[in-house]
Amino acid sequence: MANFNTVAGCVLASALFAMVVGKVSNAVVHPHKLDKPAIAVVDEAPTTQAASAAPAELPPIGPKLAGANVEAGKAIFMKQCFTCHTTDKGGANKVGPNLWDIVGRKKAAHPGFGYSSALSAKGGDWSYEDIDHMIFKPTTYVRGTKMAFAGLPKEQERADVIAYLRTMAETPKPLP
Ligand code: HEC
Repeated sequence: MANFNTVAGCVLASALFAMVVGKVSNAVVHPHKLDKPAIAVVDEAPTTQAASAAPAELPPIGPKLAGANVEAGKAIFMKQCFTCHTTDKGGANKVGPNLWDIVGRKKAAHPGFGYSSALSAKGGDWSYEDIDHMIFKPTTYVRGTKMAFAGLPKEQERADVIAYLRTMAETPKPLP
C-alpha cells in the first residue's frame, strides 16, 4: 500500500509539475514569440520608406522612350535646342557643343568646346536618365552650367527629344 501511494503520489506530482512547467514555459516563451515580429516590423518599415522616398522629383524616362515620337522630338529640338546645338556628324559647336552620338558619350568631352568647370567636374557618360535631368532643368542638374536654358517641364517632350537624339548616331544605343 505504501508503495502504491508513493508511486501514485509521484505520478501525480510529476503531472502537476509538468502542468506547472507547461504554464510557466508558455508564459515565458509567448512574449518572446511576440517580441520578434514586433521588432522586425519596426525595423523594416523606416528602411523601406526611406528607400522609396529618396529618388524624388523625376520618374525614370527609360520606360517612356520605346513609345516616344522621334519626329515630334526633332521638331521640339529644332525649336528649343537648335539655336545652340547641332546634331549632325562633325557639326559645328555653336553656343553649346555638337550633340552627335550624345547618348553614352563622355560628359563635357566634345573636341573644341569650352565647357564650364561645373559640367567638366560632373563626370561619367550621358545616360538617358542624365540627359533627362539635364534638359528638365540644367541649372539644377549642374549647378554653374553655361547651358542657359529654362528646361522642358513636359515628360513627353523630353522623351521625344531624347528619342530623337538617340537616332543621331552611327549606331543608336539600345533602348533601356
Ligand atoms: C541657350 C543655348 C542652349 C540651349 C537653348 C540648349 N543648350 Fe544644351 N548646352 C548649352 C551649353 C552652353 C552647354 C555646355 C554647358 C556647360 O559647359 O556647362 C550645353 C550642354 C548640353 C549637353 C551636354 C553636352 C556634353 O557634351 O556634355 C546636352 C546633352 C545638351 N546641352 C542638350 C540640350 C538639349 C536637348 C536642348 C534642348 C532641349 C538644349 N541643350 C538647349 C547651351 C544650350
